[in-house]
Amino acid sequence: MKVNRPPHFALAATLIVVLATQFTALAALTPSASLSLARTNGSVTSLSISNAGDQVWIVQGSSNFTSWTEVEILKVFNGSYHCRYTNGTENYFYRTFYDATRQTIISATTNALVLPATNFNYASPSLPATFLVNPILAEDNMTSINTNSDAGALLGRVLFYDRRLSTNQSISCASCHQQAHGFSDPRQFSTGFDGSLGTRNSMGLSNARWYQRKKFFWDERAATLEEQTLMPIQNSVEMGMTLAALTNRLAAEPFYTNLFAQAFGSPDVSTNRISRALAQFVRSIVSTQSKYDLGATNGFANFTSQENLGRLIFFGQTGSPPANCSLCHLTDNFVQTTIIDNNGLEFPYVDKGIGGISGVAAELGKFKVPSLRNIELTAPYMHDGRFTNLEQVVEFYNSGVVSNGNLSLPLRGQGGAPLRLNLTADKKAALVAFLKTLTDTNLAADVKLSDPFNYGN
Ligand code: HEC
Ligand code: HEC
Repeated sequence: MKVNRPPHFALAATLIVVLATQFTALAALTPSASLSLARTNGSVTSLSISNAGDQVWIVQGSSNFTSWTEVEILKVFNGSYHCRYTNGTENYFYRTFYDATRQTIISATTNALVLPATNFNYASPSLPATFLVNPILAEDNMTSINTNSDAGALLGRVLFYDRRLSTNQSISCASCHQQAHGFSDPRQFSTGFDGSLGTRNSMGLSNARWYQRKKFFWDERAATLEEQTLMPIQNSVEMGMTLAALTNRLAAEPFYTNLFAQAFGSPDVSTNRISRALAQFVRSIVSTQSKYDLGATNGFANFTSQENLGRLIFFGQTGSPPANCSLCHLTDNFVQTTIIDNNGLEFPYVDKGIGGISGVAAELGKFKVPSLRNIELTAPYMHDGRFTNLEQVVEFYNSGVVSNGNLSLPLRGQGGAPLRLNLTADKKAALVAFLKTLTDTNLAADVKLSDPFNYGN
């Protein structure tokens, strides 16, 4: 519950409201004299403040409203602060307020971030044996120019979740690449810093490290991941920032100079370092603990019979004609290896895809074939987010592929016409069940990939 209060709103009045209505939290939103009050409900309570700016907030606790004990002082970028406190006593109250005389607190790592005493292992994740040999070895787009280090990826994680990267400090990379959604966006089109909509569906980032063509975006317009990571920051719809303003803004935060020093050996904040750290974090989003991964080691004995039927359909081992999904979604990363494809979504091409960038006619309507890892979590689907669920995707491949000159061969049947799979309802359900075996619930909850900020966003 959030309520706007004028400046100098009296504590007593707030107290009456709280007791009368059992609100768990009230937030007064003016920086000059803000007051938030929260009362323990059982033993847990939550406070929240919203106020644009980059201010210091003081949190205090009391059981009698007479003596207040300081709980913590936080520098809250963008004034967005949601925090849960626990206290054994019933009726323990918390308040936060803004004190103009105490705004000089520095944003040290300890008050800005929740980081473990010993850093996580980002540099050498344990990988299945199949990732260490071809064909997957050849898919790895990490190069000697930017090899992952634990400190570099940690800095990347902090940057990834930091709203300072957008001009008005309103969104971070994670706003459009949400961990619970396989680092994708559940909205068809993401909203940028000023509320404008983009024109494509956000991409899931699971195992982005493994893409042999090494290019990024649906239309592959970024030649490397290092090049890609600076593009949303400067995009006028997405984050609207200039790189000069960004380096200045980050250099002003002591905790950043600290993290840059740990990652790169000196505290200097530079565009090149920002791009490399972000790329290191994206390459740390490694998913190898799905039901499918276990199955790959035990002959799929852990699969239900429905999932195994779906697996045979996906790999073209049953069905007439065979579905051959695995001709384009290859390897244990379920990603295309060396070519680009058109899967017959539409004609004429509303979005010209890779051809729109290269100008090559044979590439019109062709797109990067993304990994299907964690596909269950990354709805909606396709470059324009046209399908809201996997049932719709499967029905599209079953009966909806649209004829066009650039339609890729695996989706062509007799005489080059679009393939019709004629799957029964049971087989369609089996294919969906198989796609869901690619879900890695550990990844969606892994703390080392989660929001490190101390603001409980
Ligand atoms: C406003 C939403 C938004 C923000 C903010 C955003 N992205 Fe994205 N991201 C997208 C969309 C949409 C796409 C697909 C765009 C396209 O292909 O044209 C995408 C694509 C990507 C890709 C390509 C994945 C692939 O497999 O090719 C990467 C990597 C990525 N984003 C990383 C980031 C990083 C790092 C940041 C922060 C610096 C960021 N994004 C900020 C929406 C966003
Ligand atoms: C000819 C190559 C090809 C074949 C065969 C193919 N796909 Fe795809 N797939 C693509 C391309 C290309 C895209 C991205 C298309 C776009 O967004 O424009 C895609 C996208 C997808 C997506 C959405 C990915 C996302 O992140 O939004 C799913 C799910 C999918 N395919 C599943 C399948 C299944 C299941 C089959 C078999 C029935 C299959 N595909 C067969 C090329 C193929």
